[in-house]
Amino acid sequence: MAKARDTRTNDAPTGPRHVAIIMDGNGRWAQARGRPRLFGHHAGARRVREIVTACPDLGVKYMTIFAFSTENWKRTQTEVAGLMSLFRRYIMKEMQDFVKENVRVRFIGDRPRLDAKLRALMDEAEQMTSHCTGTNLTIALNYGGRDEVSRATRRLAEDVASGRLKPEDVDEETLPKYLDTCVLPDPDLVIRTSGEARISNFLLWQSAYAEYEFIDTLWPDFTKEVFTELLKGYGARDRRFGAVTA
Ligand code: IPE
Ligand code: IPE
Ligand code: MG
Repeated sequence: MAKARDTRTNDAPTGPRHVAIIMDGNGRWAQARGRPRLFGHHAGARRVREIVTACPDLGVKYMTIFAFSTENWKRTQTEVAGLMSLFRRYIMKEMQDFVKENVRVRFIGDRPRLDAKLRALMDEAEQMTSHCTGTNLTIALNYGGRDEVSRATRRLAEDVASGRLKPEDVDEETLPKYLDTCVLPDPDLVIRTSGEARISNFLLWQSAYAEYEFIDTLWPDFTKEVFTELLKGYGARDRRFGAVTA
């Protein structure tokens, strides 16, 4: 169970409510140890629970993690198959603990391309944790921002064609209702590990006003302490959203 809320005073800077993480650097972490890339993916997967478990004390209510992109199919068959098997095992192994820790799990991304066994496990994980009221963990699996916007637009176009939606009613409020993230708030902070300063097709629409942190740490080395330290810098940021503040 989540511990009691932290002891920050009311006038202390508030932390991000929704943190999204591009978990990058598993391959390099493994290569630096002379091991196959999959060794790094396994080490990376083990980090996830530590970071999710840290969320309640840090005031993070939503955590969204990028596990596999629509572009990652371009990797070798061995790596892709190894990752898919890791996802299946990960869900089977971790879900009971997520239920115990009151973590609600959701998946975003294009599901039909994933194998039936994995899809069934994803559905089961979502159902098993649907009553959980603690941290909202969203796992982006076969996710691409452009793919998501395309799929959303297709469904929106179908609604227009069938007369359920009028073209003049399509606006910034309507379109996100068709996105995979329709029940989630926008991310406040997007973190990318491993030193790359790009977003690689992650949450394109949703991150329009997010703050970004690009850090050199490779994902398997991203500890609770590194995460806590990173969030300290967030409170000092002045999020203006285009307005002029006094
Ligand atoms: C991120 O680590 C995990 C996935 C994309 C699945 P990488 O596998 O991209 O690791 P690097 O960037 O090659 O080190
Ligand atoms: C982004 O990392 C995707 C995930 C972390 C799942 P990549 O390693 O695939 O991104 P690029 O290829 O460096 O842009
Ligand atoms: Mg990478």
